[in-house]
Amino acid sequence: MAAPVIAVIGGGQLARMMAPAAGALGVHLRVLVESADSSAAQLVVDAPVGAASDEQAVRDLVRGVDVLTFEHEHVSDDLLHDLVRSGVPVHPGPHALLQAQDKIVMRRRLTELGAPCPRWAELSRDPATARTELAGFLAAARDGSAVVKTSRGGYDGKGVRVVRSPEEVDDWFAGVAAGGPTLLVEEKVPFARELAVLVARSPSGEVRTWPVVESVQRDGVCAEVVAPAPGLTAAEAERAREVATRIAERLDITGVLAVEMFEVRGAEGSEPEILVNELAMRPHNSGHWTIDGSVTSQFEQHLRAVLDLPLGDTAPTAPWTVMVNVLGSGLDELTDALPGVLGQFPDARVNLYGKAVRPGRKLAHVNVSGTDLDDVRSRARAAAALLRGE
Ligand SMILES: Nc1ncnc2c1ncn2[C@@H]1O[C@H](COP(=O)(O)OP(=O)(O)O)[C@@H](O)[C@H]1O
Ligand SMILES: [Mg+2]
Repeated sequence: MAAPVIAVIGGGQLARMMAPAAGALGVHLRVLVESADSSAAQLVVDAPVGAASDEQAVRDLVRGVDVLTFEHEHVSDDLLHDLVRSGVPVHPGPHALLQAQDKIVMRRRLTELGAPCPRWAELSRDPATARTELAGFLAAARDGSAVVKTSRGGYDGKGVRVVRSPEEVDDWFAGVAAGGPTLLVEEKVPFARELAVLVARSPSGEVRTWPVVESVQRDGVCAEVVAPAPGLTAAEAERAREVATRIAERLDITGVLAVEMFEVRGAEGSEPEILVNELAMRPHNSGHWTIDGSVTSQFEQHLRAVLDLPLGDTAPTAPWTVMVNVLGSGLDELTDALPGVLGQFPDARVNLYGKAVRPGRKLAHVNVSGTDLDDVRSRARAAAALLRGE
């Protein structure tokens, strides 16, 4: 039997980090990359260059493959449906992926499923009507502010804006009128912290979740992840994992699903409330800790799941693992920091993405595991600081 071939759309660090897992399982990866020197193309031998929006490039990519999967969700829905009709296994399927592509579709489905969500509303495409609707939403808001989001195309906080008046999104209203994605508004959740639950599900229905993590965002970008989330009660962890599992099953999601959540604390002694923020149907930044801190990494699990192989053990391998992202750097090349960081932190697991340095760009992450959270966190931060050139 020939080795299974997995096609992946997108050549960033997520596809790159699938490569070691594919190698270990003897799986052939074929990745559609944006450019010949993209993060994934540096590690993957079979990496045709093309845009995710280029229909012919995608059709060429999937010829003869066992399954098509993704590192991002910005792919034409019509094309994916067409591929499925012509017999290409696509995981996650386009019917599921739609909830990660469009935040309005996602909110509607989650509300139907009874998953706890922030209060939300879709805004009309007509600017004058949308302004009135948003003004009404703001008037009813606890502190007079709300979060406006573009339904499609956003990532890393691009497409998310906290507003106190409709005028603050006038440019977005104009964008909608010019044919851009519809907007939605959500209550600004007074969360105590953000949590994430990673779950993997295979086409035959096997489901596994990893421990619930805390994810710390800075300017809408994931900066740090602590696994497991400190101080979570067993009941709350169980509830969060149950919500994520229900979403994976009811939306028929295959592969890895990340469910971003808000933890809202009520009165002293009451159980915190959990609200679902958004879904990502692919390996996710909140799961990078699993490469070094779990028996099975999210990248290997994703490959197993989309091939419908048995899923791996998701148990943590240490009491604590902290992941710190390197967002931008003062160095020309992150490899310049290797002698220092590897010398000072021999147990830090450094993962560079091979990307050119740009301000705020996700360039690398560091995982540190251990038994003392404060120590683990401070060493992970210090190692990441060296990679930032500090
Ligand atoms: N309703 C909300 N209330 C409070 N903060 C929010 C809300 N929605 C999003 N945020 C903040 O903005 C970040 C990015 O929003 P998200 O919808 O996850 O967009 P993205 O697709 O860019 O990840 C969240 O991680 C959270 O910190
Ligand atoms: Mg998000």
